[in-house]
Amino acid sequence: MCGIVGYIGSQREIKGFLIDGLRELEYRGYDSAGIAILQGSQLQICKAVGKLENLEKKCSSLVVHGFGVGIGHTRWATHGKPTELNAHPHMGEFSYVVHNGIIENFKELKEELDPSKFVSQTDTEVIVHLFERELERTSDPFQAFERTVSKLRGSFAILLITKAAPDTIFFGKESSPLIIGRDGEEIFFASSDAPLIGNAQEVYYLEDGEYGYAQKGSIRLFRGGEERVPTFQPLTLNKELAQKGGYRFFMEKEIYEQSDVIGETLMGRVKENRVEFEELDSRFFQGIESIRICACGTSYHAGLTGSYLMERLAQIPTTCEIASEFRYKEPLLRPDTLFIVISQSGETADTLEALKMAKKAGLRTLAICNVDNSSIVRLADATVLTRAGIEKGVASTKAFTTQVAVLWMLALYLGQGRLDQETLLREIDALLHLPGALKVRGELHERLKRLSKRYLHGHGFFFIGRDIFYPLALEGALKLKEISYLHAEGYPAGEMKHGPIALADPELFTIALMPRNLLYEKIKSNVEELSARDATICAISSIPFELADDFVKIEKQKHAMLEYFEMAVVLQLLAMEIAIRLGNDVDMPRNLAKSVTVE
Ligand code: AGP
Repeated sequence: MCGIVGYIGSQREIKGFLIDGLRELEYRGYDSAGIAILQGSQLQICKAVGKLENLEKKCSSLVVHGFGVGIGHTRWATHGKPTELNAHPHMGEFSYVVHNGIIENFKELKEELDPSKFVSQTDTEVIVHLFERELERTSDPFQAFERTVSKLRGSFAILLITKAAPDTIFFGKESSPLIIGRDGEEIFFASSDAPLIGNAQEVYYLEDGEYGYAQKGSIRLFRGGEERVPTFQPLTLNKELAQKGGYRFFMEKEIYEQSDVIGETLMGRVKENRVEFEELDSRFFQGIESIRICACGTSYHAGLTGSYLMERLAQIPTTCEIASEFRYKEPLLRPDTLFIVISQSGETADTLEALKMAKKAGLRTLAICNVDNSSIVRLADATVLTRAGIEKGVASTKAFTTQVAVLWMLALYLGQGRLDQETLLREIDALLHLPGALKVRGELHERLKRLSKRYLHGHGFFFIGRDIFYPLALEGALKLKEISYLHAEGYPAGEMKHGPIALADPELFTIALMPRNLLYEKIKSNVEELSARDATICAISSIPFELADDFVKIEKQKHAMLEYFEMAVVLQLLAMEIAIRLGNDVDMPRNLAKSVTVE
């Protein structure tokens, strides 16, 4: 999804900062990029389609010394194709704008303006022409910007620079993240923390409806015409964490990290004989009769797993829905329902909107999220952070396993009054063994690397499992398709004979999740049915399965959840190794964005 950076100052080379900053946002996905730098009346602008290397080449002759203001953008096309004309910054006669989000009323606004001025197919361009029209009317750049922002509907994070105020960046935010950073007199902007790490000392996360302007060493912030004082906080994140650390891909690093980060997820929450969440007040859950979980993609798969755990361990009726479906189904919402949203980024538009609907209907809302201060965290009544650290690979790995761990703990937290002591202690013991289950064993990774070469063709994959291993099968299939571009489906194993088994032949690859601790005999007979029809079977289990064409042996775990987590790692590695063999960039798969901030 689109990314924004901005800079005011003289301490560093602006072009370098803008491009490095955009590189930090690359993982979000983009198809064109651009920068604009203003020094007095001199403007330099550069845009390119494709990767940042193209932009770097195009602006190699551009040299900037001394004080200046600059804005940069990576664009993920929504309105109009990924072309240079549609890339940001968009230009007026003397002003330049970058924008994340969607201006919903751009067509109406465009009708008020001179159509001959428009050169792109984007919604964004309307902002810069509107600003210049307002400036003609008021001759005060800030007033013109304030009027412009007040006319925009939809979601936006905007940075605008203009020759009419050459030492200034105007900014505005509504439903799309924007952060201001500072270090002494230097001022930075970015749409997420990553470009600011190692540059800004402190940061301010803009709230919806806020806008203003920044000049060397000063920031003026407003909302609804009233001036406000921004409360900056130290930026403590570490650059190291945001880098690859010797792995081939961020995805690989993040798979390996799971065993450590899960320790953070559990820390302070799993006690000797109970689960606690410092951040939650038990009164918050009083009178809750049911739970509705809502999320997208991988987070939805975590949520679906959570729905099984909630019913089993907390004994509370629970459903899990895809946020984009939930939004328009006119759901019946009851105030005794706890509404849980799950999101790695905390910015996913559909999940955020579902959360808004639940809040409006008076439900208690809880976010399970990886990014503190994200839009979802700020909106929910309560939050449990997954503490996975920055996840850069577009294909979610450690965010998923930490989400499932939080849901498991939450199910125990809500169920500990009802569960018998023996069951509770068994669950807690299993939770404490999570780091071991998530550890990548060298020989397992090697085995999957070798195995991957047998799965580069065929007419499709079925990932099958039962119970909680069904959502895990969905996740395994999603992982494979998003980075390998091979067709894969997750299916409940018991449902295969109701249709999909018709596809069975040697070119149909079945990845069978066969945990010894949960419904082993049931899944075994489902796999036997497929094997009898000559499907190629890759079984993942701790119990050798003679009908399997390939067998991936996991450890003999004593709890189904430990098998679940170990199998999650197997599926992530298998997808990654297949994608690598196919020559794909697993960190930045085609057509995908890390954070989906549009509907
Ligand atoms: C994960 O591999 C996907 N890229 C995607 O499905 C993702 O989980 C989904 O877009 C939801 O994102 P969120 O967790 O940030 O809300």
